[in-house]
Amino acid sequence: MLLHLLQTFAAHPDLATGQAPAGLLHPFEEAQLAGLRVVKRRREWLLGRWTAKHLVRLYLAQREGQPPPALAAIVIAPDPDGAPYAARALADELARLPLSLSISHSGDRAFCALDDRPGVTIGADIERIEPREPGLVAQFFAPAEQAIVAGAPAGERDGLITAIWSAKEAVLKALRLGLRVDTRQLSCLPMREVAAEGWLRLTVAAEGLPLSTPVRLRGRWRMEDGFVQTLAWAEAHDAVAPDG
Ligand SMILES: CC(C)(COP(=O)(O)OP(=O)(O)OC[C@H]1O[C@@H](n2cnc3c(N)ncnc32)[C@H](O)[C@@H]1OP(=O)(O)O)[C@@H](O)C(=O)NCCC(=O)NCCS
Repeated sequence: MLLHLLQTFAAHPDLATGQAPAGLLHPFEEAQLAGLRVVKRRREWLLGRWTAKHLVRLYLAQREGQPPPALAAIVIAPDPDGAPYAARALADELARLPLSLSISHSGDRAFCALDDRPGVTIGADIERIEPREPGLVAQFFAPAEQAIVAGAPAGERDGLITAIWSAKEAVLKALRLGLRVDTRQLSCLPMREVAAEGWLRLTVAAEGLPLSTPVRLRGRWRMEDGFVQTLAWAEAHDAVAPDG
């Protein structure tokens, strides 16, 4: 099952102040929040937790057909590399859920996605469309990406550059690498062809990235309300095709 959710600070008045809404956090997460001093980081972290927990509740309600657990009984925790996972809080332990989860923040919004197919990891990213540093394309984009940017009408360039950058981040999250690698070894080309309802196709190719096992890379993208959203999957070769 693939699910994704976008939320803004309008969802709850406390989120925008950097304070946790009552009933949102588990004590493990309260300790994490206490370690975050910068208000911008507290705000985005909280909105990410808010969005991820609502998404996991939606997933559990659909999968189990029963009322889902309270928000504070779902824990969103980081693995050592920073990638998030979801767990149920039991009396004295966290029981990790068998799904892949990804979180992204930009401006006043957070975008989260999950996928429960075995052998699949998902990456989600959201970026506000705005002019980027002039050197970004030359320094960080693969030759095929530079070529489509050069060939795009001037009025479409900011959107296209944002989409390519967002796609790279989504793929590098799905691969659990983050921006630790040479981003020119990854080529993400946003296409105009429809991939699924509301989503366009993204062609992804990687050459030379440090991957521990061979995976197939897929992606989707869309523009909405001045933001680009991207989804990417790293799939073992025997994984079933994505739904939705
Ligand atoms: C992961 C990364 C691509 C995120 O991109 P970004 O544009 O800065 O931020 P986004 O809002 O889109 O995504 C942030 C989320 O990515 C997730 N994330 C962090 N590291 C990740 C990884 N290795 N793999 C997958 N997801 C990761 C987290 O959930 C994080 O949100 P949270 O900390 O609030 O839970 C980028 O931060 C990165 O490459 N980090 C690794 C490099 C590093 O360690 N930098 C030093 C950080 S102090």
